[in-house]
Amino acid sequence: MTSTHADAHILVSMTYASRANPNVSATDFNEILQQAQINNAANSITGMLTFNKDYFLQTIEGPRAQINRLLYILISDERHHDLQIIDTRELKHREWAKWSMNYASPTEENAAIYLKYSTTIGFNPYLLNAESAHGLMNELSAQKG
Ligand SMILES: Cc1cc2nc3c(=O)[nH]c(=O)nc-3n(C[C@H](O)[C@H](O)[C@H](O)COP(=O)(O)O)c2cc1C
Repeated sequence: MTSTHADAHILVSMTYASRANPNVSATDFNEILQQAQINNAANSITGMLTFNKDYFLQTIEGPRAQINRLLYILISDERHHDLQIIDTRELKHREWAKWSMNYASPTEENAAIYLKYSTTIGFNPYLLNAESAHGLMNELSAQKG
């Protein structure tokens, strides 16, 4: 499909949770992040990706057509599965404008933030509602400084 730039003024945000496939390593994670940062810069997409060893939680934002196109690509990526949309909405302004793909993974410093948004022993993004998913990503990003 050729890109129609007519919708470039319609900005949307999409947040989803997915399960990492069992063989996904730290190297894979770095590759995913690198791919995301390079491609997104070319496609006017910005966002935030959080993960632990079992799950991904990602917000992507940009022109509606680009976000829908990326969604199809993400669904067919074999490094994760069971992609479930948590939130999608129109935006007046990007929330992650500074980052082609910001990211956070669990560290000692941010452990309390993950814990705050966990209702079970381990962190599980499938249990988050849209508001909590936003809260978590904003706090993780703020904590990175
Ligand atoms: C959890 C996860 C998040 C990803 N995020 C992005 C993203 O934000 N942007 C992107 O272009 N690709 C992202 N990817 C990678 C895409 O699924 C796909 O592999 C990639 O866009 C293909 O790029 P290429 O055509 O340059 O090889 C992500 C993959 C995973 C598993």
